[in-house]
Formats: sequence, structure tokens, C-alpha cells
Amino acid sequence: MSGFVFSEKPITIESGEGATLVADDGTEYLDFGASYACTPLGHSHPAVTDAVQEQAAELTYVQASYPVETRTETYEKLAALAPGDLDNVWLCNSGTEANEAAMKFARAATGEEKIVATKRAFHGRTLGALAMTWKQKYKAPYEPLAGGIEFVEYGDAAALAETVDENTAAVFLEPVQGEGGIHPAAVEYLQSAREVTAEAGAALVLDEIQTGVGRTGTLWACEQADVVPDVLTTAKGIANGLPMGATLCADWIAEDFGDHGSTFSGGPVVCAAANATLETVVEEDLPAHAAAVGDDLRERLQAAADDHDLPVRDVRGSGLMVGIEVKRGANRILRDLAIDQAVLALPAGRSVVRLLPPLVVDEADAERFVDAFVEVLSG
Ligand SMILES: Cc1ncc(COP(=O)(O)O)c(C=O)c1O
Repeated sequence: MSGFVFSEKPITIESGEGATLVADDGTEYLDFGASYACTPLGHSHPAVTDAVQEQAAELTYVQASYPVETRTETYEKLAALAPGDLDNVWLCNSGTEANEAAMKFARAATGEEKIVATKRAFHGRTLGALAMTWKQKYKAPYEPLAGGIEFVEYGDAAALAETVDENTAAVFLEPVQGEGGIHPAAVEYLQSAREVTAEAGAALVLDEIQTGVGRTGTLWACEQADVVPDVLTTAKGIANGLPMGATLCADWIAEDFGDHGSTFSGGPVVCAAANATLETVVEEDLPAHAAAVGDDLRERLQAAADDHDLPVRDVRGSGLMVGIEVKRGANRILRDLAIDQAVLALPAGRSVVRLLPPLVVDEADAERFVDAFVEVLSG
């Protein structure tokens, strides 16, 4: 008997600490993928471990209709940390669910059906969120998906303005496209998305599932464009590896959201992990740290590519969300990095090596990654 959805890697992980994962044969891997940005504080961070253990011993689970101090604290923290006045918090278990809720809430609040998404977007894998995802490979076997979705070119403000109209419920955007290849949006693009949605009475939904919780150098990537959406979705790193998604909504969305729910919404143990994670991210100013180390990492990568004449087309990104576009298959490079150099990273499509390390990595870790990358690409 075996799991059948994920293809398994030939490495069995036994433990982790900080940016290091330890395999059953004792090999220590430098983790520059953080399992798709899920451990901003690094592996097995004591603040999260303690919070989880304490909460599990006191009350492991009670459904969200019963107020629990730990969950109330999560609501308050997220509302306080959210950009603008996105004070209304829906908690769920994943990024996909956070976006699915955002689709439903936007349709209910506007009474409209049309949702505008972008080419190369990734918003999740349920039949609603998947409908807003661009890649055919993910979608084709499962059709029909949710209807009413129109795609526009990412970054093209004129195309967006032409497509958004009074029948639009929402525009969904990633401030930096992750799965699509690490493409940061221009500040002006996000600002014009804000303007056209406001004019049309549509919701601007920013999907910060990968960019959020400090990854791009600010707590939320939209802060860098000075844009406050109507809905912000987040997940991945929010509870440092425990499953949580959140949909943060403006009053006008929350006032008329329809009827929604989920059994495990805001479970106390996951909320305890989220509270400890958010507290640590803020107290240790990890977004600023991510900005500094990310700049250093991209500079080192570009310099190494130039000095060693590596087959690299582009180095781009924001904070510790970095894409290296390569002239040969990214998967082969990732395999060699893992097997020969004990360094883990991720793909973003066939030609981009994606780096989403824990936000606690430092310049020495960046140097180690770059050295390993040079070794593999010059080999
Ligand atoms: C931007 C974005 N949105 C949504 C999702 C889906 O999140 P999850 O896998 O937690 O359902 C992801 C996951 O990679 C993502 O990167």
C-alpha cells in the first residue's frame, strides 16, 4: 500500500532544525525550499513546538462556534497585522480553501459571477480555485471546473481595465507569481488593479499564500505597492508548517458573505502555532531580515552567473522569494543539488529554480547555496 498522488523523493527525512533537514542516513540538507514556504521560522522552532504542546495538552479541538482564547488571539493578531482594515478573518486549512472562500465571498458580496484571473496564475486545486489556475495540465483531467473565469495577461494594466466591468465579482492576483515562475508585479500594475476594481465595484483579492508572512521583505507583499485589497488570502507559512489558511476581508465583503463553514476552521492547536509564528516573525523583524538576505542572495547569484558564465537567463524575485531562470532543465539541476550537494530547492515550471528558504537563513547560508549551485552548473 502506498500514497499515490506525490512522487516520492529518494530521501527520507527524520528531523529538522532551522534551515537544516536531517535524513535517516545522517546527511544534513540545507533546505532552500522550506516545503514551499511553509516554515518561515525554520524547522521545529521551539516557540511553535512549545505553543503546540501546551495547547494540545489543554484543549486539542473544539469547533469554532465556541470561542476559545487561542483562536480569538489569532483573529486579533491577523486583523491587527493585516493591511488597511481587513478585520474580518475566516480561518481554514489550506491556501486553496482560503481562495475558494474568497471566490464565494466576493460573488455573494457583489451579486456578480465573473472572476478575472491571470495567465500563469496558481490559486489552488479545488474545482473553484483550480478554475482560476492557468496551467492546463492541472485542469484538463478534472473538467468541468467552476465557470465564469476570464484570464488576462499578468502585468498588463490595459488588458485588466478592458476586462473588468460592472459584472465582475473579483480580480485575483498574486503580488509575485510563484508557481508561474517567480514574476513580481510592478507597483503601478497593482495600483491600477486597485483603481479599476474600485471603479467597477469588484473585489480586489490578493493571493498572498506564497508571498505573505514576511517572505518578500514586508509582512505582506502588497505593502510595497501601498495597495490594500478587499480580500487578502494567506496560508503556507502562517502556522510554520501546521495546516492553516486565512481569508482576511473588508467589512463590505464580510457583511454579505453568504453561508460558509468548515469543521476544522480555527482549531486551537493550529491557532497556537499561528500565534507563535506571527509573534516571532514580528518580534524578530524577519521581513526586514528576508529583504536583506534576499538582496544579498540575488546579488551573489547574479555575480556567480556572470563570473562563471553559467547557463542562467535571469535572477529575479523579491526578498526570499527567488527565481533563477536557467537554460537547461530545472529538475535535473534540483536533483544534482540534492544528491551531490545536499541542498534542497524547488522548481517553478521547467526552467526556473525556485528558492523559498526559511526566513531565518543568513548570508553564510546564501553563500553555501550559491557555491553548491555553481558546482552543479559548472559540472
Ligand atoms: C499563490 C498560491 N495560491 C494558492 C496555493 C494553494 O495552496 P495550498 O497548496 O495550501 O492549497 C498555492 C500553493 O502553492 C500558491 O502558491
